[in-house]
Amino acid sequence: MELDTLFTPEKIGNVQIKNRIVRSATHMRSTEKYGYVGDKLINIYEDLARGGTGLIISGFTAVDPGGTANPQQACLYDDSFIPGQKKLVEAVHEYAGVKIAIQIAHTGRLGYHPKYETVAPSPVYSKTTDITPRELKIDEIKEFVQKFIDTAKRAYECGYDMVQLHAAHGYFLSNFLSPYTNKRNDEYGGDTQKRARILIDIYNGLRDELGNNFPITIKLQTEDFIPNGLILEEGIEYAKILSAIGYDAIEPSGGGGDSLSGKTTYPSLNIKSSEEENYFLQHNKRIKPFLSNCKLIAMGGIKNPISAERIIKENIADFISLSRPLIYEPDLPNRWQKGDLSPAKCISCNGCYMTMMQGPVYCVTKKKREERMRK
Ligand SMILES: Cc1cc2nc3c(=O)[nH]c(=O)nc-3n(C[C@H](O)[C@H](O)[C@H](O)COP(=O)(O)O)c2cc1C
Repeated sequence: MELDTLFTPEKIGNVQIKNRIVRSATHMRSTEKYGYVGDKLINIYEDLARGGTGLIISGFTAVDPGGTANPQQACLYDDSFIPGQKKLVEAVHEYAGVKIAIQIAHTGRLGYHPKYETVAPSPVYSKTTDITPRELKIDEIKEFVQKFIDTAKRAYECGYDMVQLHAAHGYFLSNFLSPYTNKRNDEYGGDTQKRARILIDIYNGLRDELGNNFPITIKLQTEDFIPNGLILEEGIEYAKILSAIGYDAIEPSGGGGDSLSGKTTYPSLNIKSSEEENYFLQHNKRIKPFLSNCKLIAMGGIKNPISAERIIKENIADFISLSRPLIYEPDLPNRWQKGDLSPAKCISCNGCYMTMMQGPVYCVTKKKREERMRK
């Protein structure tokens, strides 16, 4: 089978992407100190850019000092981070046609910062952190809206091609979407429309500031996989609302937060057979018909170029995204394009996810194989 659509260009907003392969946001826990970008992180992004990925989405980047997950997470909550971030973008743009999006985030209910209190839309205890967050007041929520907007504006100044809001996996923005974590009864909670309000406010604020020059995309929680959590039917409603107001792309995801045990999608599924690949496809199939000008990025266990090609060709999605396979093989897109159609070498063991607890993130399987080769 020829990969005749996977390597065709397509646009997100006004930005042309050279192929349909996206690097899904991946926190590499590799900044030099306290969120500042240095050579270690830049080298990782250069490898990805050299390897043929069309659009690289950065690891989650903090919009506020109290919303950082660990000291090696990249930040852009004030101007002091701009020079390092700019250098990273410039390094990626050295590679012809490669585009880069910044993913912006706050840990929200999953935060456990030594210096800052944990905040969320509602004070719902988290067994993941053993913390009950403090409920935010309305004017504080509006301040957070502004922090997301300001961080995206800084990213634009750094030269990023677009922004992705992280509204998944139990972090701040997804806390508003889930009926399990949002018990509010004001303009930011109650029904589906009100729980989506924060995403609408950020969108409107950013469009007012930057017009259509900077595509606005989102990684969207579409199911929590917990009792009384967000269900797919409501996830589809969110996708409809966001597409209708003008979001340029949606990457549906799910799980995380208090659904860390059992069958979840984040941490990513430990795939043991080819039948378990493409594990979010049914979600994408349900969502795609409701998106108009908004592109769909399909993530989750995609490892085989033939099925990746089919996902695009059959119009289930406009782009496919990969995280773990590109940690093992940053040059995977080039390998596929050159005609080696064997699947990704990644065995989806989640060893990389475990390295995130200490950092820096690396592929455990690749390291073991290389060590064996050396013996
Ligand atoms: C080490 C690691 C770090 C990740 N960091 C992020 C992140 O910063 N933001 C995010 O939205 N998802 C993150 N993810 C989830 C991935 O983007 C992706 O959605 C998930 O791993 C499924 O894709 P895959 O099967 O191609 O790995 C991370 C996953 C891994 C393994």
